[in-house]
Amino acid sequence: MTEKTIRVFSGVQPTGNIHIGNYLGALKQFVALQEEGKCIYCIVDLHAVTLPKDPAELRENILDVAALYLAIGIDPKDATIFVQSDVPGHAELSWLLTCCSYTGELSRMTQFKDKSRGGDSAPTGLFTYPLLMAADILLYDSDVVPVGQDQKQHIELTRDLAVRINNRFGDDTFVVPEGRFLKEGARVMALDDPAAKMSKSAESEMSRISLLDDESKIKKAIMRATTDSDGEIRYDAENKPGVSNLLSIYSAFSGRSTALLEKDYAGQGYGALKKDLAEVVVLALRPIRRQYDDIRGSQELALVLKDGAERANGIAEGVVQRVKDKFGLGTKRL
Ligand code: AMP
Ligand code: TRP
Repeated sequence: MTEKTIRVFSGVQPTGNIHIGNYLGALKQFVALQEEGKCIYCIVDLHAVTLPKDPAELRENILDVAALYLAIGIDPKDATIFVQSDVPGHAELSWLLTCCSYTGELSRMTQFKDKSRGGDSAPTGLFTYPLLMAADILLYDSDVVPVGQDQKQHIELTRDLAVRINNRFGDDTFVVPEGRFLKEGARVMALDDPAAKMSKSAESEMSRISLLDDESKIKKAIMRATTDSDGEIRYDAENKPGVSNLLSIYSAFSGRSTALLEKDYAGQGYGALKKDLAEVVVLALRPIRRQYDDIRGSQELALVLKDGAERANGIAEGVVQRVKDKFGLGTKRL
């Protein structure tokens, strides 16, 4: 095997209801990229507290994501799996990036605009959220960041910051990372409202398929998914967003292109497509669910996270020191 030289980094918030959008946009790539690079996968609990969280629930949600990482096939002997708040470098580097950013560029982040709804009582943490994300990425000299489409703007900001700071202190300050987005699955839409993206927080359970949903719930949500009245199975995201979303999910799970799926289903109704899609999704999620049930209660989980935090800290401490030196901070070099 050739030596893996690229470094891969990504994170998921421990906010419950991890769904097939998270899986197809991000998690599936996490698994595949283990072949290509040295992978570091974080559970970003500091991001989760940008909105108030119940502490006991947060603690459980952190372990849920860790168990899911293992259940989908991330190998903790090779990849590093850890919890963000176990590594102090994230908050430290985030401050330095805060001091190199502009309020204007943060105000333009669409995720902030959506979540704050323009009000001046939006939590400050929501505003500075992208800087913590940039710190996560830059802290590990990451080359590649697998994420869903909704994170594209945050990755661009991370790149802008890295280049800006490199221009000031030298190109050996930060590695400029690249986002990695999949063709199918990068933006999965809500099943009951294909104009909105599938999200963890939508009120209706029928809007999403969570990775741990039971099989009857999965079937129900797909059979009830919003389509349209012309009855034609054709991919056209603009005019037929519901059917196109189903085709896109089908394609991402089966590996068959949407063009081939259109041919397979020519002349058939939405009912047939939905029935088969439900089967494909159930079969794909079944092994994940089984693995998860085995892992979630095991002692192994805490050990994986402890080992991961040590490994992550080992990298992060060096990078923080390097960057502090560039800024002229601290007394370590006296
Ligand atoms: P989050 O739950 O916000 O931490 O998101 C974890 C990962 O899932 C990120 O890489 C997101 O870009 C991705 N993601 C979230 N929602 C979707 C969606 N509806 N479709 C595709 N990817 C998504
Ligand atoms: N902001 C990302 C999301 O909501 C989660 C995240 C935080 C992340 N830090 C990251 C993703 C670093 C990739 C790399 O989905």
